[in-house]
Amino acid sequence: MDARGLARSVRVVGSSQGVLALRSAWRRRRADAVTLPRQRGERARVPGRVVGAEERPGGGMIFFERSSLRVRIAVGGAVFCGWDGAGPEPSYALAGPAPEPDPRAGLEPDKDGGWRVVSERLLVTVSRTGTVDVRTPGGVLLRRDLPPRWWEPEPAADALSLPGDEGAAPPGDGAPGARWLQRAEVAADARFFGLGGRAAGARLRNGSYRLWNHDPGPFRPEQDPLYITMPVQLTVADAGTHLVFHDNSWDGRVTLHEGTEGRGSGHDRPGRCEVRMSGGPLRYWVIAGPPARVLHGWASLTGAPALPPRWALGHHHARWGFGSEREVRRVAAGYRERGLPLRALHLDIDHFRGHRVFTVDRNRFPDLPGLAAELASDGVRLVSIVDPAVKAERGDALYESGTASDAFVRDAQGREVRGVVWPGETVFPDFTDPRARKWWAGLYAERLEQGFSGVWHDMNEPTSFAPFGDPTLPRSARHALEGRGGDHREAHNVYALTMAEAGYAGLCEIQPERRPFLFSRSGWAGMQRYGGTWSGDVATGWPGLRASLSLVLGLGLCGVPYSGPDVGGFTGSPSPELYLRWFQLGAYLPLFRTHSAKWAGRREPWEFGPEVLAACGAAMAERERLMPYFVTLAQLAHRTGAPYVRPVWWQHPRDRALRDCDDAFLLGDALLVAPVLEPGARERRVRLPRGRWYDTATGEVFEGPGEVRVPAPAERIPVLARAGAAIPVTGPDGGTELEVWAPAPGRTGSGLVIADAGDGWEHADPERFTVRLHGGEPVVVREAGGPVGYRVRVRS
Ligand code: GLC
Repeated sequence: MDARGLARSVRVVGSSQGVLALRSAWRRRRADAVTLPRQRGERARVPGRVVGAEERPGGGMIFFERSSLRVRIAVGGAVFCGWDGAGPEPSYALAGPAPEPDPRAGLEPDKDGGWRVVSERLLVTVSRTGTVDVRTPGGVLLRRDLPPRWWEPEPAADALSLPGDEGAAPPGDGAPGARWLQRAEVAADARFFGLGGRAAGARLRNGSYRLWNHDPGPFRPEQDPLYITMPVQLTVADAGTHLVFHDNSWDGRVTLHEGTEGRGSGHDRPGRCEVRMSGGPLRYWVIAGPPARVLHGWASLTGAPALPPRWALGHHHARWGFGSEREVRRVAAGYRERGLPLRALHLDIDHFRGHRVFTVDRNRFPDLPGLAAELASDGVRLVSIVDPAVKAERGDALYESGTASDAFVRDAQGREVRGVVWPGETVFPDFTDPRARKWWAGLYAERLEQGFSGVWHDMNEPTSFAPFGDPTLPRSARHALEGRGGDHREAHNVYALTMAEAGYAGLCEIQPERRPFLFSRSGWAGMQRYGGTWSGDVATGWPGLRASLSLVLGLGLCGVPYSGPDVGGFTGSPSPELYLRWFQLGAYLPLFRTHSAKWAGRREPWEFGPEVLAACGAAMAERERLMPYFVTLAQLAHRTGAPYVRPVWWQHPRDRALRDCDDAFLLGDALLVAPVLEPGARERRVRLPRGRWYDTATGEVFEGPGEVRVPAPAERIPVLARAGAAIPVTGPDGGTELEVWAPAPGRTGSGLVIADAGDGWEHADPERFTVRLHGGEPVVVREAGGPVGYRVRVRS
């Protein structure tokens, strides 16, 4: 946290906390200075020349003078490369054991003393100095990783034998502390996406992106890094799309440089990507193919996105500072009386006793289970914030139980590491310890008993307030890391991921018949297994609105499909126009939630005048109408890894104009949503993918590819439907019907419905439909035969 961050924390929790935070920041600096190794200025180690190779399942080991490289192609086509003896496991990102090697992939000698591994989908060549090329079977180069470099650290004087370090590998054999650097080249026309939640995306411009989860305080789009960083990059070029994942949770930096094309002169300058890591293994996965296949491959590797319960796809309202049951009732009644369909209310830290997690302030919330039951009868669920930091106070029940379970992070001397968060001085569970996770998982029973239906994990970068330096735990703090032992340098980025693992496991165990609802501010590769995320404390303003979309798009391409912003922004008071445009965008994003800081202005739709209220009501009604479509998209994300919110190039990654467009998105296959991201706009330009599109409000027909102008009156944002789409929507009688948009002459269309009754684990079968023109009229046919089973409403 920087000065602004401190100012915020001091304003919120009072200056005595500021003093505590100052002390804790000094402690952190001192601990790291005496414990952590120093970097040596010596020359880098490079692999040297190839000296031999051995065939192994799915590929082989290639030996160099000063290193080795394992290349293994897995069933399904993902390529694994591990230097210095690194294998795919252990890994926090992988959903289970590493996928089996592809028995058809074999190692063969290549020209000039190099080697190659050939599989059905990819060709990997390794030069005699350790350059690794990944090509399509046709020989088109997707990426070239140049020989890496390593720098071994010099141990700190008193850090030679840290507990848990026994048997640390010698330098040159995957020493965990070695810094490394790897440069790669991609096509001159390539565009970069991913790296977690980046506010300035979705397309990542030239620059350097840090890999270190961070709470920036209320942030603007140029701030980086934010809460979720991950070494997952998606590269999209004419040559093809590929994802590369450096499976390493240490602090790092990715520097991206788009290439330039020589326009026929043959002098293309390739795109460049450089990954620097401050330690940990040098190992990476490459998954190539069309975007949908890449995301499917990524979900196969790191886990299927959790399926949110149906209610979580409706509108949520949150606020830091409801302050009392009365206020919660007032807000719920405000929605009800205006006929606005609210599905969830979120209680922030102000409902805790003294900001202590897993407690209730009974003066202000005397009967939470009663309140929850009352709201549930109106279809509104309660969601609870859960912060990881535990008040460090003798006699505090949670602190005592965590201490008894030896659950808290300790320093190199074995003392509890203390930080400062909302409740004051705190300790932090070590979620990388399976025993601590088990202890923590059990705590969610209290939340369920209080009547909560879901949880909202916060402050889990982890954040500890600090007036200077890094607002987190000391890098020297010790972590179990599943029994391997290590420190916060390795555990930091997976802290929230492992917290989510614990929370998810707890909810599943305590309430096995329900799908958990969990979303988390911070996370890492694989976090989708446990739930979603949100944009964190996005600053109110038009740039924040744009950042909201970047974050959702970028995270979706990293495999985290369920997210959304604080509608209206976290801080200050949006103008009615800004609030409305944010609300209208939010209505088409997976997590549709209004939220704001305690000191910020109101966020209820009726606080901005009758026009805004009417337009918000329309946006909410449309969200409810699209519910069967959202349910289908959630199921699709779960089954295939395809995000609900997709970049407009999703089906046409070779359309360069689309690749550069990040002010609109596809919602599933059928809809293109073009939010209004600037003040005063009453129409906007929309870049269309190939094919025919209909303005869903006016019925006007457009032909893509190309750019068109569409009206964007205050009452709505432009939404276009793809010709031939059959979209499941809620009909006037509350049942599902198919909304059909005529295919262009000579073409057919399609639709998909995956019905989901509610919150349980029942399996729903997909129902597929084809749309054809018959005598100029669209006709819907069920692919499996038999009656369509839904009422069909033709819209064009
Ligand atoms: C953090 C969260 C925010 C929450 C606040 C108080 O700033 O990002 O959503 O309201 O903490 O808990």
